[in-house]
Amino acid sequence: MKPIAALLLLLTATAAHADPFAQGNAQAGKNLFDQYHCNRCHMAIEGGDGSRIFTRINHKVTNPRQLVAQLHICGGNVGLDVTPQQEQDLGAYLNQNYYHFK
Ligand code: HEC
Repeated sequence: MKPIAALLLLLTATAAHADPFAQGNAQAGKNLFDQYHCNRCHMAIEGGDGSRIFTRINHKVTNPRQLVAQLHICGGNVGLDVTPQQEQDLGAYLNQNYYHFK
């Protein structure tokens, strides 16, 4: 059910050409990101604070849907069962700071 709800949300947002994570709270996303130490593996891969994983050449995520999919993959790494609201919050945080999807 959850992925379907997320997809519907995304489709609606995309159709309106609105911010795909308009329902998200970037600060809540950042808090979640820090709480789960999301960058700890990214750091090991990319060095620095790890955030280069989002901006490296040929980075994987090239649209909001892929971002949501990656949140679920990576959330699984840290035992976080990402809810639709958390998708929006984490998405808003990462989108505002790195991806800038419209
Ligand atoms: C267990 C290690 C690990 C943890 C913890 C982890 N990630 Fe990742 N993450 C990865 C790896 C590995 C990749 C690169 C995947 C690839 O290149 O195929 C990645 C890539 C990503 C990307 C895509 C970057 C791109 O190429 O555009 C996003 C977004 C992301 N992670 C978000 C998160 C979030 C949010 C969390 C915390 C909930 C998190 N990650 C925690 C290992 C991890």
